[in-house]
Amino acid sequence: MKKLKYGMVGGGPGSFIGDAHRKAINIDAMAELVAGCFSRTIEKCRETGDALGIDPDRCYATFDEMAKAEAAREDGIDFAVVVTPNVSHYPACKAFLEAGINVSCDKPLCLTVEQAEELEKLAKEKDLLFLVTYTYMGHVTAKHIREFIKAGKLGKIRTVMAEYPQGWLNKEGEWGGKQGEWRCDPKQSGGVNCLGDLGTHIENAVSHMTGLKIKKVLAKMDIVVPGRVLDDNDVVLVEYEGGATGCYWASQFAIGHDNDLKVRIYGEKGSILWRQEECETVTMIDADGTIVERHRGNGGIEAEAAKYGRLPSGHTEGWLESMGNLYKCFINCINARKAGTFTPDMIDYPSVEAGVEGIKFVAACLKSNEAGNVWVEV
Ligand SMILES: NC(=O)c1ccc[n+]([C@@H]2O[C@H](COP(=O)([O-])OP(=O)(O)OC[C@H]3O[C@@H](n4cnc5c(N)ncnc54)[C@H](O)[C@@H]3O)[C@@H](O)[C@H]2O)c1
Repeated sequence: MKKLKYGMVGGGPGSFIGDAHRKAINIDAMAELVAGCFSRTIEKCRETGDALGIDPDRCYATFDEMAKAEAAREDGIDFAVVVTPNVSHYPACKAFLEAGINVSCDKPLCLTVEQAEELEKLAKEKDLLFLVTYTYMGHVTAKHIREFIKAGKLGKIRTVMAEYPQGWLNKEGEWGGKQGEWRCDPKQSGGVNCLGDLGTHIENAVSHMTGLKIKKVLAKMDIVVPGRVLDDNDVVLVEYEGGATGCYWASQFAIGHDNDLKVRIYGEKGSILWRQEECETVTMIDADGTIVERHRGNGGIEAEAAKYGRLPSGHTEGWLESMGNLYKCFINCINARKAGTFTPDMIDYPSVEAGVEGIKFVAACLKSNEAGNVWVEV
C-alpha cells in the first residue's frame, strides 16, 4: 500500500494540536505530510515547513491557495487536516471540499448550524470523507463501552452524568497564553468558549458511548472569572429521545483538574464509569453491587473494541493512540475508496454528522441560556 499524502492548515510555530495530529498520523505511518498553510503569515508557514522538511513550493500563504494548488497537482494531497482556531474551520473545510479533497477537522466543527449543515451537504455532494477529531472516542475503553451498551448488557439507560472540568483559566488577568487567548476571544472562538471547547467533547462522548440522541436541553452558561466575555462554566440538563436524562458540566476554572473528561452511565442492569485521564481502565458495577474493572489490554474487552489496541497490557496507551485510531480508520477508508472496496460500514470515526450534532447542541444551549434557562429542542 502506498502512503497517502496530506496537508495541514494550522499547526505552526508554538501551536498545540497540529503537532499532536502529525504524531498521531505517524503512529501507523500510513500518510505523509507534504504540504501546509501552517500559519497566518508565509514566513511562519515556511518556518514550520522547513522544520518538517516540506518542499517550499508546497508551503502556502492561504488555505484557499493551498486547496486550489493541491487539487491541480497530479501528486496533490489526499486529505487536508484543519487545526486552526475555530473561526477558520468553516472556510478552510469548505475550500478543500470544493476542491475535491477529503477533510479532517478538529472540533468544534465550525461556528453556526448553517455552516455545519453546509459542510455536511458539500461533503455528501462531492462524495468526500470527513473526519471530525473528537480524539477521546478513539480509546479502546470508550469503544468497549459503546459495544457493551449496544449489546444490551447495561439494559435501558436511565441517566447519564458527564463532565469536563479544566482549571487552566482560573485567574483574573491571565489568559492561558496563545491557546487561551483565542478561546476567550469571540472573534476567533465564536459565540461560545467553554461549551464549544469542552462541552462538545462531552456531547460527543455520551452520544458515541450510549447511542442516545438529545431531544432537548436546558443550559446555564456563566461568565465567572472577572474580565472574561464568553462562558467559562456551563451546566446543561439534557433529555434524550426515549425519556432518559443527562447532566453535563464543563468548566475552565475548576482548580485541580486538567483534562478530566468523565462519563458515568446508569442503566437498568448496572452502571459504568469512564475517565479519560485513566482511560486504560473502565469500571462497571452490576445491580448486585459487584465491581468489575476491565483493563484495555486484558480479557473482557468487547472484541470490536479490543481490535483497536496496539500494545500488550501494561504498556500504556492514551490520547495520541486514540487520535491515531481515528486516523487509521479514516485513512483505511480513503484507501478503500481508491481501491473501489469501500463500504459505508467501514466508517468507525466521528464523521461530519457528529460535528453537526455538536454545533446543534451548542446552538440549542445558547438559545436556552439567552431565553433565561428554558428547555429548548435540539
Ligand atoms: N481534539 C482535541 O482534543 C483538541 C485539543 C486541543 C485543541 N483542539 C482544537 O484544535 C484547534 C486548534 O487549537 P490549538 O490549541 O492547537 O490552537 P493553537 O493556537 O495552538 O494553534 C492554532 C494554529 O493555527 C494557525 N492559524 C490560525 N489561523 C490560521 C489560518 N487562517 N491559516 C493557517 N493557519 C492559521 C496559528 O498560527 C497556529 O499555528 C481548535 O479548533 C481547538 O478546538 C482540539
